[in-house]
Amino acid sequence: MFERIVYQSTASQEFGSLALFRLLTEAQLRNAHLQITGHLLFLNGQFTQCLEGPPRNVELIWQSLQRDTRHHSIELLVRHATEERRFPAWSMAFSTYNSYYVHGMQGFFPLDGDAQSPVVHLCTSDVDSSGNAPNVGVHHA
Ligand SMILES: Cc1cc2nc3c(=O)[nH]c(=O)nc-3n(C[C@H](O)[C@H](O)[C@H](O)COP(=O)(O)O)c2cc1C
Repeated sequence: MFERIVYQSTASQEFGSLALFRLLTEAQLRNAHLQITGHLLFLNGQFTQCLEGPPRNVELIWQSLQRDTRHHSIELLVRHATEERRFPAWSMAFSTYNSYYVHGMQGFFPLDGDAQSPVVHLCTSDVDSSGNAPNVGVHHA
């Protein structure tokens, strides 16, 4: 049994492509170690991240994220148990503007003019259009 969380946060700094590359590389390394997979969307200075994996490890990352001053106003949108991973192939897929691409970025998906990539919807489909997530706070052990 896995757990999935989706949250949104606001970047505390102007992120250039190198800072994003560093953040992503660090995340992918630790996630691989903790059997975490997921997706990070960076759009208009906001992050939307989907994390999935063993509940204990998801919680470890969640606690780390709370301490990280590179973002603030962290809002949990979805937290629930799940049988299946949506991003089995990526320790952290990443969708953002093509201009942020740095050679060597793993799992990079450029956003199109509608701010969509082939995987964005996999991350956000639990969050209804009003921004309310029916599963927030529900935690099946
Ligand atoms: C938007 C954002 C997304 C992040 N995603 C991850 C992630 O998926 N996995 C991860 O290990 N760290 C991620 N980090 C970094 C963590 O917040 C933290 O710096 C890192 O895990 C080290 O944890 P520690 O400070 O508890 O040692 C992310 C940071 C930010 C700002």
